[in-house]
Amino acid sequence: GTKNTVLTFKNAKRKNEKLTMLTAYDYSTAKLMDEAGINAILVGDSLGMVVLGYEDTLAVTMEDMLHHTKAVARGTKEALVVTDMPFMSYQTSVYDAVCNAGRLIKEGHAHAVKLEGGVEICPQIKAIVAASIPVMAHIGLTPQSVNAFGGFKVQGKDEDTARKLIEQAQAVEEAGAFAVVLECIPSKLAELISQSISIPTIGIGAGNGCDGQVLVYQDMLGMYSDFTPKFVKRYAEIGEQMNAAFVRYIDEVKTGEFPGPKHTFAISDDVIEKLY
Ligand code: KIV
Ligand code: NA
Repeated sequence: GTKNTVLTFKNAKRKNEKLTMLTAYDYSTAKLMDEAGINAILVGDSLGMVVLGYEDTLAVTMEDMLHHTKAVARGTKEALVVTDMPFMSYQTSVYDAVCNAGRLIKEGHAHAVKLEGGVEICPQIKAIVAASIPVMAHIGLTPQSVNAFGGFKVQGKDEDTARKLIEQAQAVEEAGAFAVVLECIPSKLAELISQSISIPTIGIGAGNGCDGQVLVYQDMLGMYSDFTPKFVKRYAEIGEQMNAAFVRYIDEVKTGEFPGPKHTFAISDDVIEKLY
């Protein structure tokens, strides 16, 4: 394989090749995805829900994102590492946005940052891009706005909101984003948006007309059962396998079956006799 960069993203769209992205939050998982040949790994602020156990992403901090971005970066050789800017690390000002994006690159060793929003966040996108930090935008269902939306809902179903989403996609491209995540929007609208901009669209709950796809890895591996959105496809039932393994381990420890001779260190009988 070869190293994935923002040019990989640009060329993929031109060549009509689909881009692949999954979330990861730790070294071992990132390494497995990298070895499988994923284009990009997203250290998502979904961290708050699937790793830290919060109900939404709002409580995630810069320190949380830095901690997990460092781990993912150490496990990655070829994938592009994109990290989410957490809630209130970029909304407050352009200055805050550039400083915090810079920390995710300098301290976290990410290659790019992702932030949520359209027209209203374009000054931040422009300033971060001007600092030579690639930005992935994110529109549609933007989970950091859950309280403003009144819940996690499909976006862009009527003409007005659909038109706004097209405008937002064009605005973030214009501001310099190298790609844009489209979350939870009707597939035909996502297809139209993908055709109307020249940067790749990465869909989640947005159909196969997007230029690429992203999923939260615990969702696609069947490891997160609190809530499963309609758009998730389960590629494995790892949660069930983990449960079975944990149950068997507990049983084998209790019966003394584990650890067996194969998992045990030996000492010569001579030495042991002297100790008695
Ligand atoms: O935080 C996350 O996992 C995301 C993806 C769902 C796009 O932003
Ligand atoms: Na996110």
